[in-house]
Amino acid sequence: MGLFRKKQGGKLNLEKLPRHVAIIMDGNGRWAKKRGLPRSAGHATGAETFRDIAAYCKEIGVQYLTVYAFSTENWKRPPEEVAAIMTLLEKYLIEAIEKMEKEKIKIKFFGDLTALSPKLRELAAETERISEKFEGVQVNLCVNYGARDEILRAVRAYAEEYKRSGKAVNEESFSDYLYSMGLPDPDLIIRPSGEQRLSNFLLWQAAYSELYFTDVLWPDFSRKDMDMALLAYQKRDRRYGGVK
Ligand code: FPP
Repeated sequence: MGLFRKKQGGKLNLEKLPRHVAIIMDGNGRWAKKRGLPRSAGHATGAETFRDIAAYCKEIGVQYLTVYAFSTENWKRPPEEVAAIMTLLEKYLIEAIEKMEKEKIKIKFFGDLTALSPKLRELAAETERISEKFEGVQVNLCVNYGARDEILRAVRAYAEEYKRSGKAVNEESFSDYLYSMGLPDPDLIIRPSGEQRLSNFLLWQAAYSELYFTDVLWPDFSRKDMDMALLAYQKRDRRYGGVK
């Protein structure tokens, strides 16, 4: 008998959860617009949703949660919106550091952080350092992240290594040059808000990920929506190019 939780639409098998879930937190702007609020209000509510979904992942036993918080392309947004997202990240990290010993969530950053403010970089480093020891869920926050940028950096780093050692590269060893080094690839990628594309997110790692799309906007995405995504995942037949 497995460990099950009864959910609307089926039973969630807690022994067959995806090890790694990745989420494109989309729809904050539309959520705010529908309410006549500034886009920053959508991001603020989206940040709360993220906090709750991360806690839920820890509760049920998802090991890795990777979220797209700010892409290499998001700098094209109006400066006040970029500033609002950066302020939210700062606020989140300050609170995360305060509550860290209680929440025990390990946090890592994927992305080129050199473009961030010194304060944000310092908070990111501190968060990673303090949470290093925690086991359970690891949250990867993608900030100034783009998959093409990540792959190009990996190629450059590998070329340097090759000049020094002449070491050959294969799929597995190439993964060690990515931000996600050492982690399993995402089993499930969730994109809310009705858009059905990857938008430069984890392009290398997504080779065999199951994709799940829902029309719910990210600020409205609840634990119930997460259960629905997990249930859908558990019904998928993963063959990795082979046959069963
Ligand atoms: C996409 O929605 C969302 C973003 C570009 C930013 C995501 C940021 C947060 C959730 C807040 C900061 C994060 C943390 C982890 C504290 P959109 O603005 O593209 O929405 P739209 O498509 O409806 O316009």
